[in-house]
Amino acid sequence: MTADASEPLAQIGVVGMAVMGSNLARNFASKGHTIAIYNRSPEKTRAVINEYGHEGNFIAAETIEDFVASLQRPRKAVIMVQAGAATDAVIEQLADAMEDGDIIIDGGNALFTDTIRREREMAKRNRHFVGAGISGGEEGALRGPSIMPGGPVESWETLGPLLEDIAAKVDGTPCVTHIGPDGAGHFVKMVHNGIEYADMQVIGEAYHLLRYAAGLAPAEIADIFTEWNKGDLDSYLIEITAEVLRQVDARTGKPFIDVIVDAAGQKGTGRWTVKEALDLGVPTTAIGEAVFARALSSALAQREAATEAELPAGELSTLEALGVEKTAFIDDVRRALYASKLVAYAQGFDEINAGSAEHNWDIKPGDLARIWRGGCIIRAKFLDRITEAYENDPNLPSLLLDPYFTGELQKGLVDAWRRVVVVATQLGLPVPVFASSLSYYDSLRAKRLPAALIQGQRDFFGAHTYRRVDMEGTFHTTWSGEREELSY
Ligand code: ATR
Repeated sequence: MTADASEPLAQIGVVGMAVMGSNLARNFASKGHTIAIYNRSPEKTRAVINEYGHEGNFIAAETIEDFVASLQRPRKAVIMVQAGAATDAVIEQLADAMEDGDIIIDGGNALFTDTIRREREMAKRNRHFVGAGISGGEEGALRGPSIMPGGPVESWETLGPLLEDIAAKVDGTPCVTHIGPDGAGHFVKMVHNGIEYADMQVIGEAYHLLRYAAGLAPAEIADIFTEWNKGDLDSYLIEITAEVLRQVDARTGKPFIDVIVDAAGQKGTGRWTVKEALDLGVPTTAIGEAVFARALSSALAQREAATEAELPAGELSTLEALGVEKTAFIDDVRRALYASKLVAYAQGFDEINAGSAEHNWDIKPGDLARIWRGGCIIRAKFLDRITEAYENDPNLPSLLLDPYFTGELQKGLVDAWRRVVVVATQLGLPVPVFASSLSYYDSLRAKRLPAALIQGQRDFFGAHTYRRVDMEGTFHTTWSGEREELSY
């Protein structure tokens, strides 16, 4: 079919026919929508029609003008091109060809501050701009992703039903909701990815301990993960972990995990989450450690130099020498994983709540947990509990304070967590997120923190002042003089 300006047929269009864009277009088509498609180089558009044209009603356009002309009003176009300059270029082209009230949706992983800027620019031209986080990878785009759209609420009225059609469904509920104005959707997608980094890292730490502390083979660990996937840890990431660990390398016959270079890549959303957390003053230690763990793993030259130099490890122990029984240790690792994961999510939600307050987005954290239950990489049973936690108390100060999660921690989780961090330390095995999450937890529940000393030091060298526990006001001690206390 070719575009016909006199009779617009397409309910929605997709620009960018790389894998994510073409899969999203096929998803719309499979739900019975007439979908317009366009790509800068027309060969890709033609290839999509040749391969998948029979799957539904596609309108292939070879110019942006034809593409826009094939869309029903208000026109809706999803951009699925490279983030950054390419997205800006396509936004401009679409805005030029569109009319008042039309909706441009950026489905890429844009930095939310770019989305805020673009939304403002488009609003001046009477175009609606919706930054939508889309999670679930290629498979999700095709069969049902989790979608996090921001932008003006008016656009949600016409766009919402279309997105609900293509989103993943859990218990019949679509995994999409209007997150909030301007950059809210991309902000939430960013933190979602940060949480994903932490979730993957804690699973990695658990694997590492089972392998190198308990001495289990990858296939045995795969079975343990499969077992764990039947309980509280039931999630997509645990499921695929078992798959990866069970895989045998066809070339060498070795466990697949052992032929992969242990240098983790990253595209930037985890780093953005941490940078933003620093600006907001929210301690997302689990996500931060997860991002740094990837960075350290990739510093291959430095690691090699350190290995060759045989940096002293101190006196290392073994499970047997410590008198730790293997089966009990395996279950402790499961609990430590669960507790650390809980901290990572609690911190991620803290960042979302802080971002929402900072930008007046009015994000409903319980809704997020609901739309993350399906389609996305962090989909998990656990998210139902988070939704319930925020339903019970929308102003929960921390997920860790929800009665259900506090109850879980009381069920021996904390003891197991401490034992695992001690064992890891005594065996010289790195557990950056397990250990830092436990420190965060202990800091959070502590009656007193060494911050009092820091305030004393700051007052000593910089007259930064301090507050007293026993009276109102601000104080400074004249450290270099009589050491008398002045009050302000
Ligand atoms: P993926 O990682 O899924 O392959 P990507 O690299 O994020 O995708 O984006 C590639 C898409 O962005 C392609 O559709 C590409 O168009 P071409 O096939 O013509 O290369 C599109 N793209 C990149 N730069 C663009 C630009 N300046 N204008 C329009 N589209 C652009």
